[in-house]
Amino acid sequence: MATVLLTGGAGFIGSHTALEFLNAGVDVVVVDDFSNSSPKALDRVQKLTGKSLTSYNQNACDAEGMRRVFANCRFDAVVHFAGFKAVGESVAKPLEYYRNNIDSALTVCELMREYDVRKIVFSSSATVYGSAKTMPILESFETGRCTNPYGWTKFMIEQILLDAAKADPNLSVTLLRYFNPVGAHESGEIGEDPLGLPNNLAPFITQVAVGKRAKLNVFGNTYPTPDGTGVRDYIHVVDLAQGHVAAYQHATPGAHIYNLGTGKGTSVLEFVAAFERATGVHIPYEIVEPRPGDVAVCYADPKRAEQELGWTAKLGLDEMCRDAYNWQRKNPNGYRD
Ligand code: UFG
Repeated sequence: MATVLLTGGAGFIGSHTALEFLNAGVDVVVVDDFSNSSPKALDRVQKLTGKSLTSYNQNACDAEGMRRVFANCRFDAVVHFAGFKAVGESVAKPLEYYRNNIDSALTVCELMREYDVRKIVFSSSATVYGSAKTMPILESFETGRCTNPYGWTKFMIEQILLDAAKADPNLSVTLLRYFNPVGAHESGEIGEDPLGLPNNLAPFITQVAVGKRAKLNVFGNTYPTPDGTGVRDYIHVVDLAQGHVAAYQHATPGAHIYNLGTGKGTSVLEFVAAFERATGVHIPYEIVEPRPGDVAVCYADPKRAEQELGWTAKLGLDEMCRDAYNWQRKNPNGYRD
């Protein structure tokens, strides 16, 4: 049976992806240092699928520890999620972000070469497009001009992987550029569990919904959008996770780049209205100053993934809101209960 290594596989997207791989009949090994995730997520993935996975409490930058993981098992592919991901924090701690994110990616690539693992799927982000001039965003759009160190680490790792693919004709590199992942598995057993104050819209709203926060701050209402609030392409994390399985199944030598989004833009106020409709819970909000570095509008053209991977996002805003709320209600303190 085929086996994939998921670095950062206990995190929000990693845990949902582990579940989809197991359901697709692919064995899963996870490395995660649990610095921003919980082993409970992996216990629940195993319970939900009725299948077992192997996990290592292991930082992906630690080459010796990672070598033991590669020596223990022959992997068909690596899906590299591990990394720091908070935009604001990356501005305050750029060196930590560059060291951690670039180092872990290089360590994984070097060990892949050493152990002749020929496929990598990388967790990239729409942030690499910076502030695109036209919408929807195609994979061919220029990248760079990122607005923060986190974004630059994604950009730099993309470049490293593209160069590695050029140098090694046997290597398959797939860059998945995520738009805005939200929601949770429909069981409510796994979901997004940010440490402290959530940076992102959906977990902030679900925390307001369960009474952990008094109100949502809406960052600006004077953007050039229909209601003045920022427009994003929200994608259900289960759809996103299935996109990784499709990318793995279609991986061929060379470099491949896919947007994973729905192609639909939704404003902050539309998201709030959709959440209220889907859950019946009122979300009080206040308009505050725009957040530095935010773009007005960002949504994908996801056609390439449809044509080449046979993948499209199937779940809509209703399911995203319903499932995110279900997870938060069942786990008001995330995995810390
Ligand atoms: N927003 C609020 N209030 C909040 C949080 C967010 O109004 O408390 C707004 C933002 O201004 C933005 C929208 O909600 O208009 C979405 O914000 P998120 O923080 O949820 O997501 P971003 O689009 O800013 O960032 C996401 C990922 C990043 C990634 C980026 C790529 O979190 O990792 O998409 O575009 F880099």
